[in-house]
Amino acid sequence: MERTFIAVKPDGVQRSITHKIIAKFEEKGYKLTGIKLVNASLELLTEHYIEHKDKPFFPKIVSFMTSGPILAMCWEGKDVVKQGRKILGATNPLNADLGTIRGDYGIDMGRNVCHGSDSVESAERELKIWFSPEEIVSYKKDEEAWLY
Ligand code: TYD
Ligand code: MG
Repeated sequence: MERTFIAVKPDGVQRSITHKIIAKFEEKGYKLTGIKLVNASLELLTEHYIEHKDKPFFPKIVSFMTSGPILAMCWEGKDVVKQGRKILGATNPLNADLGTIRGDYGIDMGRNVCHGSDSVESAERELKIWFSPEEIVSYKKDEEAWLY
């Protein structure tokens, strides 16, 4: 089954809206298989945002992402990578539809509340950075029989 890396950024943790992000994924039918609070290091974030390393906004995102704990999660289910991006909404909250996390809770591009992997390959890469294999839990949920 497909997996994705979803994180509530430091702004979302400080604003006590982690449950809103969790609720969206739970209500949709996805399965939570990993979750932890992390004070991310500069090294971890550089690896996570390696594709942006030479962009002008890189120092800003790294200083924001190290400013407080991040809620790191692994969610599992059919098409969860693409669907996860839809649930989070556009990168810039100004362009994010109402009903999405960024559309409902974000105002500023730099503080857009959440992260979601942009492809299956990115998801696997990011999950390896944030979780050790034993932190991802495999279990059966009876409700899946009614989803698939
Ligand atoms: P990006 O990977 O393009 O967006 P997404 O999070 O939707 O995959 O960018 C990573 C984060 O960097 C983004 O969530 C917010 C921040 N960012 C800026 O602050 N300024 C920018 O111009 C861009 C493109 C991103
Ligand atoms: Mg991205």
